[in-house]
Order: sequence, then C-alpha cells, then structure tokens
Amino acid sequence: MGAGDAMDETRGMQSGPTGLANREKWAAFDPLVDEHADLIRSIRDRVIDNAGAAPGERMLDVGAGTGLIALEARRHAAPAGVVVALDMSEGALRTCRKRAAETRVPGVPLHVVAGEALRLPFRDSVFDMATGRSVLMYVEDKPAAARELYRVLRPGGRASVYEPINRHMTPARWYEVLDGAALPPGYAEVHEQIAAELRARRHRESPDRALAIAFDERDLVRAFIAAGFSEVKLTYEYVYTEAQRVETKPVEWYLQRAGYAEIARSLIGDDAEALLARFAGMEVTLPQRGKSAEAYLVAWR
Ligand SMILES: C[S@@+](CC[C@H](N)C(=O)[O-])C[C@H]1O[C@@H](n2cnc3c(N)ncnc32)[C@H](O)[C@@H]1O
Repeated sequence: MGAGDAMDETRGMQSGPTGLANREKWAAFDPLVDEHADLIRSIRDRVIDNAGAAPGERMLDVGAGTGLIALEARRHAAPAGVVVALDMSEGALRTCRKRAAETRVPGVPLHVVAGEALRLPFRDSVFDMATGRSVLMYVEDKPAAARELYRVLRPGGRASVYEPINRHMTPARWYEVLDGAALPPGYAEVHEQIAAELRARRHRESPDRALAIAFDERDLVRAFIAAGFSEVKLTYEYVYTEAQRVETKPVEWYLQRAGYAEIARSLIGDDAEALLARFAGMEVTLPQRGKSAEAYLVAWR
C-alpha cells in the first residue's frame, strides 16, 4: 500500500461534525510513528530535493504538523539559513518545538508558528522556498493557498508540495453506478437529487475525508498557474492494481443503509414507491478503481 492511499492519509482522523474545526486532532498525527515511516521519509526527502533546497536559504514548511519536513530542512539550510514551521494545530506544533530543541542544527533556527495556510502571517517575498506534504488536500480553497505561497516567496523562489490523489481510487457508490435503464421512466432527475443529497450528507459527516477525495492533480496545477507562478512541474505517479475485492450486493442492502428511501419519500411522497420497487431483487457490482496516486508539484515564482 502506498503512503498516498486515502485510507492512509485519513486513517485515524476523527470524522463527525467537528471536521476541520477540531484542529487538535492533528496533534496526535505523527507520520514517523507509522508502519509507512520509511516511505514517508522518502516523500519528505523528495519534497525537499524538488524545492532545490540550498545552504543559507529561508525555508517555510506549511502545515508542518509535528515537523517531518521542517526538522529535516534545517540540515539543508545549514550552516546559516532559517526554517519556519507553520501549522494551525498548536498540539502538533508543541511536538515540533520539542523535537527541534532536542535536535538542534547549529546556525539554523527553527521558528515554529501557529497560523493558517490561507493567511500566512509573513511579509511578501521573504522566503526562498516553501514546502508542504499532505496539507493542500485539506484546504478547500487551493487557489487561495497557492496565492499565499506565491506572495511570501521571493521572485525565483520555489514551492514544492506532495499530495495524495484519492479521487481515482475512491470506490464508486452504488447510486453512481446504476445505469439509467434501472430507473423507471421519468425518475432520473429524482434519482440525481437523491444522489446529490447522499453526497452532501457524506460531506457533512466527514468534511476532511470529503475534501481529501474531492480534487485531483489538475486542480493543483490550475491553482499554482492561477496564482501566477511562472513555471509549474507536476510529477504524477499512479499505481494501478486489479481490484482485490469486488462486491456484488442487493440494492436493497444499500437502500437501507444510505437512507435513500427516506429521501425519496420526502421528495416525491407516495410516488417514491414506484422508484423503490424497481430496485427489488436488483444487485449492483461496485467497480474498484486504482490503488494509489500521488502528485509532486514544483512551482517557480
Ligand atoms: C496530514 S498532516 C501533514 C503534516 C506534515 N506536513 C507531515 O508531513 O507530517 C496535515 C497538516 O496540515 C495542517 N493543516 C491543515 N489545514 C491547514 C490550514 N488551512 N492551515 C494550516 N495548517 C493546516 C494540519 O493541522 C496538519 O498538521
């Protein structure tokens, strides 16, 4: 399994109505205490290398968490650079500060700053490079985040990010794979409304997970181009594996779990029964998509 798997990046995260508002869930997220630690270190090193990190530079790591990239970046900035680790989770930053104190790099201070990626608390053009790993995936307004990176980088500065791309691997939902023939004539629009409501519910119940699967590499590239970066390079890695488990289940099983019938009845009253009756005895087989996709993006200001 790749470190870019959706289940990797969202595993252990709290779902529920708190969503991103519960910033402190990140305090417990420590990628190096993880079965994929070696893989995560290799991602860290690629992100730093892609940024072209050089001695003496001023480096910003956005969404630094417990310090995976920022702590390592100090070695690249030595003997006389500066590294800033910014995150919105105070708890994660406490761990980052502690680690920084335990592993000082002479000549390279690490400033740990609580802040928001969409409103970076820095003046224009102050950094030579900026990095981020698995952060933009949780930021809804990616163009705004890219604009902030552009603003704080000096002309010629580089932004280097890694994001898992989960959209292609997310299993389809049963109501998305029903072909039109399954629906009674005239019900396609109702079915679409119900499907939209089911998607919206999923989003409300687990906003982070919804965000993590709602974008792909094209959205990242567009965001950095729109922000004004003069050159954007994307390295996209897609590992496809044949489906390991393809399930066929009665539609009724899904109907019960999803609340489809209840939404149908609230939308069209008694007419819903004709729609629901059409599903009796029907089975759907959900296609599984690819296994893992990952994007490394470098942008030059
Ligand atoms: C999956 S963790 C990755 C942490 C770190 N980059 C690493 O590689 O270990 C995502 C981090 O992004 C931070 N984050 C998410 N959205 C943010 C935002 N809008 N502004 C600042 N930090 C954010 C979270 O607090 C969390 O620490």
